[in-house]
Amino acid sequence: MRLVILDDYNLASEWAAKYICNCIIQFKPSQGRYFTLGLPTGSTPLGCYKKLIEYHKNGDLSFKYVKTFNMDEYVGLPRNHPESYHSYMWNNFFKHIDIDPNNAHILDGNAPDLQAECDAFEKKIEEAGGIDLFVGGIGPDGHIAFNEPGSSLASRTRLKTLAMDTILANAKYFDGDLSKVPTMALTVGVGTVMDAREVMILITGAHKAFALYKAIEEGVNHMWTVSAFQQHPRTIFVCDEDATLELRVKTVKYFKGLMHVHNKLVDPLYSMKEEN
Ligand code: PGA
Repeated sequence: MRLVILDDYNLASEWAAKYICNCIIQFKPSQGRYFTLGLPTGSTPLGCYKKLIEYHKNGDLSFKYVKTFNMDEYVGLPRNHPESYHSYMWNNFFKHIDIDPNNAHILDGNAPDLQAECDAFEKKIEEAGGIDLFVGGIGPDGHIAFNEPGSSLASRTRLKTLAMDTILANAKYFDGDLSKVPTMALTVGVGTVMDAREVMILITGAHKAFALYKAIEEGVNHMWTVSAFQQHPRTIFVCDEDATLELRVKTVKYFKGLMHVHNKLVDPLYSMKEEN
């Protein structure tokens, strides 16, 4: 596991964006050789998406040969609802970059047969050759995607009922009205994310500090589903100082001492201008 600690949210977002950019460029995507990226929604990745859009607009990064798979989508919310994850991804990322919309996969929370939709999503990931880099965020209760506490660590894409903590956290997007927050979602499973060749988890803010502690300093436990990634061979947690507040000083010092090594992953920042 790598734990990358940046001073604040903006620097963490930038570091994550640089890492994604370098992964894509070093892969040398081309016709018939697509880089496959798993993507999250939520407030945490917004800064990272902004930076990726900037790299794209500067001509440094293209998504022409990138396929994406989103982690989750609410059930029953119209696709064009402003808070659907379809709307989120389109407005915050896809409409600003050159991805082919056919290559941007998001679960359909209005599908007539929800489990068939989930099974088809798993199949599409498999047909794409698996996910090269799965980017995720976590909830303060340690959930990854909508794998709420108690989810099987071997779970696959499926229908989940959301935990009350998640419904409360998401109410801010629905005028603070709990009755408007969807209570069910389709989500990739922990096992689906574990199958990715590499996983990057963004964790920022003091409200996530206990979850980060549970994720890395205690054992693998389905009550903190993000802790499953202790058993993934290539996981990178990117966080800000605030998120480290519950970690031991020894842990923080150790990983900060490795920053010069971690920074080599994003410096130099590659550009497709130089590749062509
Ligand atoms: P957030 O949500 O980025 O808005 O904090 C993350 C999550 O709940 O998975």
